Amino acid sequence: MTERLETQILIPGTGGVAQAAALLRAGGLVSFPTETVYGLGADAANDRAVARVFEAKGRPHFNPLIAHVPDVEAVEQIALLGGVARDLAQAFWPGPMTLVLPIREGAELSRLVSAGLPTVAVRIPAHPVAQKLLKAVGRPVVAPSANPSGRISPTTAQHVVSNLGDRIEAVLDGGPCEVGIESTIIGFDPKRTLLRPGGLPREAIEAALGSPLATRDETADINAPGQMTSHYAPDARVRLDVKTPRPGERLLGFGPVDAEWNLSPGGDLVEAAANLFRMLHEMDRAGDAPIAVSPIPDTGLGRAINDRLHRAAAPR
Ligand code: TXA
Ligand code: MG
Repeated sequence: MTERLETQILIPGTGGVAQAAALLRAGGLVSFPTETVYGLGADAANDRAVARVFEAKGRPHFNPLIAHVPDVEAVEQIALLGGVARDLAQAFWPGPMTLVLPIREGAELSRLVSAGLPTVAVRIPAHPVAQKLLKAVGRPVVAPSANPSGRISPTTAQHVVSNLGDRIEAVLDGGPCEVGIESTIIGFDPKRTLLRPGGLPREAIEAALGSPLATRDETADINAPGQMTSHYAPDARVRLDVKTPRPGERLLGFGPVDAEWNLSPGGDLVEAAANLFRMLHEMDRAGDAPIAVSPIPDTGLGRAINDRLHRAAAPR
């Protein structure tokens, strides 16, 4: 059963953070900004609230969620932070990195969060509004990206309202997200593995560790939407690595090409990541002609951009 709700827009600085925290503590669904994308927040200990997250997104229940907390102390209340994970935590948290860690015995987490796995994905976001909110809530908040499952992730409060409005209690509006692409996910079972490329480049993690990361086996059993083939999809068809668009195609450019939409005319991957989802949302609103995308270098944030674009272009 999906009730229709009147979604409130809350503004940080005018009491919005306290209102959002109260709604979350009462079992409500509240979208909030992080530096990567907007999350769809719910109290991670509340079974009903977590179940509503899956329902609002149309997300399969076997796909586990990320628990968000404000600091390492709060991480340790729910998960075990081993040696290498601790080094990464020190180097990159708060920030666009998620670690998959063993669940601590007795952790107050709904079993739905981890979809029955013995591990939980944890992140400490850097966005000041997210930090304030998590401190005010005082317990872990699950937050998948605040989009219907399979669709483009939101980088503004308006994206959230237009895609999930009437299914959630509120959106805390913190302006556009700076990084614009989801967190990088690292697992440790059994080897240090890049589970999802994201806002923290692989190269930075490998430099900090002094050794290469393994790459996730795409055929592995955990079958998560962000890791499913078709995902991040706009309504229009998407074609990649295009130098010359076909008649009728709209170009999503990168670098010095003539295009109405250009991820970064100067060829900057950080700027391109920040623009990616917003421009896909805009192109979706503007029409349904197929989208052709310029080649994007597969280094640094380019890896995460290409990962999302390959999924947007995959057969549906
Ligand atoms: O940047 C982000 O990570 C955003 C913001 C809101 O924090 N959140 C986000 O959540 O992207 P979501 O639910 O869209 O993606 C979570 C990913 C999924 O691919 C899921 O399978 C994986 O994390 N995941 C969660 N728990 C896991 C676990 N125990 N083991 C392996 N993967 C896990
Ligand atoms: Mg997502």
